[in-house]
Amino acid sequence: MMAPLLEVRNLCKEFGGLKANQDISFTMAPGELLGLIGPNGAGKTTLFNCIAGYYPVTSGQVIFDGRDITPLRDFEICPLGLARTFQIFQASGDLSVVENVMVGAFVRTRSRAEARRRAQGWLEFLGIADTAQAMLSELPVAQQKRVALATALATEPKLLLLDEVAAGLNPAEIEELVGLLKRLHTDKGLAMLVTEHVMEMVMALSHRVIVMDSGRLIAEGEPAAVVKDPEVIRAYLGERFVARED
Ligand SMILES: Nc1ncnc2c1ncn2[C@@H]1O[C@H](COP(=O)(O)OP(=O)(O)O)[C@@H](O)[C@H]1O
Ligand SMILES: [Mg+2]
Repeated sequence: MMAPLLEVRNLCKEFGGLKANQDISFTMAPGELLGLIGPNGAGKTTLFNCIAGYYPVTSGQVIFDGRDITPLRDFEICPLGLARTFQIFQASGDLSVVENVMVGAFVRTRSRAEARRRAQGWLEFLGIADTAQAMLSELPVAQQKRVALATALATEPKLLLLDEVAAGLNPAEIEELVGLLKRLHTDKGLAMLVTEHVMEMVMALSHRVIVMDSGRLIAEGEPAAVVKDPEVIRAYLGERFVARED
């Protein structure tokens, strides 16, 4: 078997008494597109924060590319080739689009000219080169999300963690984004771990899906099989009934 790119072993994360992640274990192969779904509050963002070194874990281990990254911080993990986007993107409002993306590129180069060249290249790849000189705050949300993606890509990851990238996008924008992410996978061989609490986007993109509910992993498998799993249906139905009652 190919050595895994990512291995999460018995990861637990507690906030006070709240167990946000309970004994989470899974692996990802190089170049794999893995979906992580689960209703709001399931613990998806917390798991991302633990993997990427934004939160220290309560217990357990994260092995990336053969190396134990559990004790490392975000800025130490990113250069190893693991990047993430944020569910709530906090880019620097007083930088232009291209300058925001250059922040990512500086993980790989110290040259301003080279960082600018690479940032421009990612903006072109993502179809937003015409926004390079705009201030980020002037752009519509779909384009801001592309900038966030470009910034993460400019760090040249082997594994990209995408947290609710489709949130706030309309169906046409989601379809376009899925096309882009598939192209990134095909052209660059990039592995992605994609969370979404709306299942459809993850289903269209993923080779395999893992499902969280109340801090635990409750299912794993091919997208078509996972959506038929009774435990998954129960976790989601609960949320939908709640959503429809108000
Ligand atoms: N920094 C934090 N401090 C305290 N509780 C948190 C923190 N981050 C998340 N939580 C709690 O952990 C649980 C899981 O949240 P989260 O990981 O954001 O879920 P999801 O991303 O699946 O919606 C929730 O109950 C949330 O309130
Ligand atoms: Mg979340």
